[in-house]
Amino acid sequence: MDAAREVYGDQFPAINRYVDILASTAVEWGLLGPRESDRMWDRHILNCAALSSLIATDSRVADVGSGAGLPGIPLALLRPDLRVTLIEPLLRRSTFLGQTVQDLGVGDRVQVIRSRAEDHHQTYEFVVARALAPLDRLIGWCNPLRTRGGVILALKGESAPDEVTAARPQLEAAQLTAEILSVRAHPEVESATVVRLSERRPPS
Ligand SMILES: C[S@@+](CC[C@H](N)C(=O)[O-])C[C@H]1O[C@@H](n2cnc3c(N)ncnc32)[C@H](O)[C@@H]1O
Repeated sequence: MDAAREVYGDQFPAINRYVDILASTAVEWGLLGPRESDRMWDRHILNCAALSSLIATDSRVADVGSGAGLPGIPLALLRPDLRVTLIEPLLRRSTFLGQTVQDLGVGDRVQVIRSRAEDHHQTYEFVVARALAPLDRLIGWCNPLRTRGGVILALKGESAPDEVTAARPQLEAAQLTAEILSVRAHPEVESATVVRLSERRPPS
């Protein structure tokens, strides 16, 4: 919690409110398991906030398969310069997201779209996802949502190298380069593993 206070600074009351909502409404609605309440800050909030260093100022960001708002809401609260779209197909989850965005007072720059990724046809400079699908399937869903030159950031765990290997055909077809990065929101918290997918540069 001290690390989160340092990371979020003036925005700490807002992220603290979001954690309260996750630990109460999200658990009651079955969007998060009750055991998650004890590990909200490290496992969820700071893990998602680690993506911030990879996202350019003033970007439009799509969070695909947002669930209870992860990673989109922790990023939006940390970075008031971002415009964030939370894409989530399930009714209960998208209803929760709409209510939570209003409660947090960020409805002017955080939008909720109830849709599957493959049925949504806007594009974004950054497409982020956590626990959405294995990388080969994730590429099929997220690549069409990327602007030209846009970047996909997938929060992954130890499986990242194997997933990159398994996704070689999809990476080749989409002409994407995959990098496995280790980033952290604060020096005292565990680092997060991110697969960054960006367009291949033409040979010079
Ligand atoms: C395991 S949950 C992860 C939720 C959240 N990202 C997190 O890290 O806690 C996967 C989410 O992806 C959503 N999802 C599944 N298929 C999808 C698709 N085709 N397009 C967009 N979202 C999808 C599910 O409804 C679910 O909320």
